[in-house]
Amino acid sequence: MSRQLIAGNWKMNGLTADAEALAQALIAGVASAPGHADLLVCPPFTQIATVAGILRGSVVAVGGQDCHMQPKGAHTGDIAAPMLRDLGAGFVILGHSERRQNHKELDETVREKVLAAKAAGLIPIVCVGETDDQRRDDGHEDVVGWQLKGSLPDGFAEGDGVVAYEPVWAIGTGRTATEADVAEMHAFIRAELVRQFGEAGQTTRILYGGSVNAGNAASLLAVPEVGGALVGGASLKPEDFLAIAAAAPRG
Ligand code: 13P
Repeated sequence: MSRQLIAGNWKMNGLTADAEALAQALIAGVASAPGHADLLVCPPFTQIATVAGILRGSVVAVGGQDCHMQPKGAHTGDIAAPMLRDLGAGFVILGHSERRQNHKELDETVREKVLAAKAAGLIPIVCVGETDDQRRDDGHEDVVGWQLKGSLPDGFAEGDGVVAYEPVWAIGTGRTATEADVAEMHAFIRAELVRQFGEAGQTTRILYGGSVNAGNAASLLAVPEVGGALVGGASLKPEDFLAIAAAAPRG
């Protein structure tokens, strides 16, 4: 088993003082208890430079939460992948359900963004996951299967691309997926990745996201085919984020 990736998605949270304090606390935490998982934080765009400056040289990597599909141009208010790279980001979350819902992002859009991220030297973390209604109708595998097919470009698995399974009903709700749900969906996603990308799909990390916290991390991270976690709310509390990282099984 390779090292797990514990990624924090700060979403739209953090003024400069908050971001500095959080980054400093993470530095102090990993210095006193070096873990055995790879760590990543994805602050809002406005805090990436600040956080990357504080975390430079540490084991905690920095990522963005979205990027545009073009490297530059007339796209008011958008952020290009090379801009994230320029600030010190190494990763970017793409196709998060909040962007799919709030910004009507389609699989094709996500796929183009993945290509843009890769061209800029960023590792994409592509999010997939079904809504409550889709699960109730027993359509979760179909939905996630189509999202994977539509969002991941050729060659995705040959690089370091990461997939995150985030059931929409588990995000920010405190309603974590059961270990059985996670096992079923991660096995399904692994099979799809192998079908889509052959051998290279065997090693793609598949993160679980949705109400991961310090209390449930150990059992979720121990489920087969879970390669780490994408953590929202709990990543804003450094002690919780570090406790989740400490719960990752040894790679
Ligand atoms: P929560 O951990 O707050 O449920 O958010 C999960 C998420 O959306 C991470 O991208």
